[in-house]
Amino acid sequence: MGIHFGVDYYPEHWPRERWETDAKLMQEMGVQVVRMAEFSWFKMEPKKGEFHFEWLEEAIALLAEHGIQTVLGTPTAAPPAWIIEENPEIQPIDTQGRVRRFGGRHHDCQSNPAYREHIRRFVTAMTKRFADHPAVIGWQIDNELGNSHGDLCMCDSCKSRYQQWLEKKYGTIEELNEAWGTAFWSQGYNSFSQIGTPLITAVGENPSAMLDWKCFCSDLIVDFAKWQADIIRENCPNHFITHNYMCFDDKVNYYDLGELLDFVSNDIYPAGNWQKQPHQPDAEMAASHDVIRSYKKQPFWMMEQQSNIAGWGTMGRAVNPGQMSAWAMQSVAHGADAVVFFRWRTCAVGTEQFWHGILGHSGKPGRVFEEAKALTHRFAPHMDAFEGTMPRPEVAIVHSFRQNYAFQVQPNHPDLWYVGHIHKYYKAFFDKKIPVDFVQDTDDLSKYKLVVAPLQYLMTPELEQHYIDYVANGGHLILTMRTGVKDANNICMTDRELPGKLGDICGIKIPEYDCLFHKECAVLFGKKEYKTEKWADIITLTGAKTLAEYTTSFYKETPAIAENKYEQGKVWYVGTEPSDELMADFVEYVVDSCDIKRLGTAPEGVELMTRENDGQTWLFVINHTNEEKVYKLNDTYKLLEGEREEYLKPYEVQLFVKNKYGR
Ligand code: GLA
Ligand code: ZN
Repeated sequence: MGIHFGVDYYPEHWPRERWETDAKLMQEMGVQVVRMAEFSWFKMEPKKGEFHFEWLEEAIALLAEHGIQTVLGTPTAAPPAWIIEENPEIQPIDTQGRVRRFGGRHHDCQSNPAYREHIRRFVTAMTKRFADHPAVIGWQIDNELGNSHGDLCMCDSCKSRYQQWLEKKYGTIEELNEAWGTAFWSQGYNSFSQIGTPLITAVGENPSAMLDWKCFCSDLIVDFAKWQADIIRENCPNHFITHNYMCFDDKVNYYDLGELLDFVSNDIYPAGNWQKQPHQPDAEMAASHDVIRSYKKQPFWMMEQQSNIAGWGTMGRAVNPGQMSAWAMQSVAHGADAVVFFRWRTCAVGTEQFWHGILGHSGKPGRVFEEAKALTHRFAPHMDAFEGTMPRPEVAIVHSFRQNYAFQVQPNHPDLWYVGHIHKYYKAFFDKKIPVDFVQDTDDLSKYKLVVAPLQYLMTPELEQHYIDYVANGGHLILTMRTGVKDANNICMTDRELPGKLGDICGIKIPEYDCLFHKECAVLFGKKEYKTEKWADIITLTGAKTLAEYTTSFYKETPAIAENKYEQGKVWYVGTEPSDELMADFVEYVVDSCDIKRLGTAPEGVELMTRENDGQTWLFVINHTNEEKVYKLNDTYKLLEGEREEYLKPYEVQLFVKNKYGR
């Protein structure tokens, strides 16, 4: 497409006289695309059926005169007051039965038929109006689906949809009673009509019901998006459809949602006001980009890339000179074909007055504008070449929404967080400059030398077989604590000791375990003692050898990590949550034994990453710190951008290339 840099623009927040200045400055900055209109329903339809798209057409035309194209957002994350007045039942109900009212955003129930009709009317009009507009290239459906919809909605409309969803899944109420284990606490149902949305109970909840509820909510969001995607496809067959994801957010299964889209987009705020300080975001952000790339296994767009201070009522840290560019190029290094900065100009009104943009409140171009301009001019000439290229990692980490949901329902240990646990493994590879892909548990694993499958808690015979086949054919697999605990309905398995059938490839069984509640644990790995936390599987070897053993508690001197050869492959079973130090050394041992390539060596805060096609490999070297750093590459590349190989200024980004024949 040849579009690589842009901004999120809200012309409706500013007087008409200002728009020319904005367009000129954007052109000077190197902006090629804007996203607009995703929160301006009222301005486009101030009364039912009275459409006002002329202001938007004018903005689009003006930007087009400056060589800027437009992505339009459907404004369905904030229905106007007149819709709420006409259909108050659109407002969602929370777990306590309270109505979440108009006045912010996301005050909509996604199953509500009246709301769906408002959407049909509006999105039809909007898509018809812009279908043939030469400067409009695509659509963003809604905005950050799932954002603020946690635990929503408990209304009657959602209840009846949930009942239908359950009936379709289970067929008969007897099946559901069995699958949910309703013999416990007299929870049996006579009919689907008795099943409610999970409003607050006196105490406790059914874990199988809660897992179904989370999957239902995800399916509902996908269905809500499809409602719009169908209208857009019909009216605008030449436009792309995307959606702005939120990294590892989990309210909707992003793999499922991706099936509706031409490509995935992402929003990222590495220094948002919710991030803990001091915050070293590089590994976490890298993981976010990698998981985004995994949702459709293709390059993506950044639809909101942090450009400046981020916060609502309170604010995060100022962005250091150079840091925004480092973040932007990190996105590109991991697979972004386009980077759209949030937002063009810091807003003077509303909830997000302190969520800053490329321009400050004054609208005068300053340091951030100059940096963005330098960035686009420096890298735009290379961006066409990257388009469509992908990293080609040798290592994959399995990522699953269902496993995540199951741990949200029952975390096992109060601090066990599925995504956090994955991040721990990811960081060990990241620090060794080893690129990683995320994969679904149903994906073909055979192209990876090493697969890490943390917390495989919900297990099915198919998934067991998938892992067994991978290892039997020469794969290297890391499995962990809490594997094979439950069946697909979130019910504990009873036919074998943990970790179930996978015990055969692990060469172990786990008759007992210890939840390390308010307690740390230590293990001996090699000659060194390390801390571990949260969990200790008490392992009996049935063929594996011990790689690390506990040094504490009644199970001291028993295995904490086991290694087993199985047919052509190898499995490591990790029965505890390693500290960062143990993770680093254990992963070092594993990658050496499967001969995984590293891109080079560099201190923490310096990132190495590649994108490739069949002919060429581009290597990105990024300094995420405000200090000078040195690094070494393991291969010979030609420096394309940057000053001095093996040396980095604060926040410097360097770009290298290598073709098939070497430099
Ligand atoms: C999200 C939204 C934007 C904006 C920013 C800042 O990422 O998509 O509309 O609200 O956050 O809060
Ligand atoms: Zn509802």
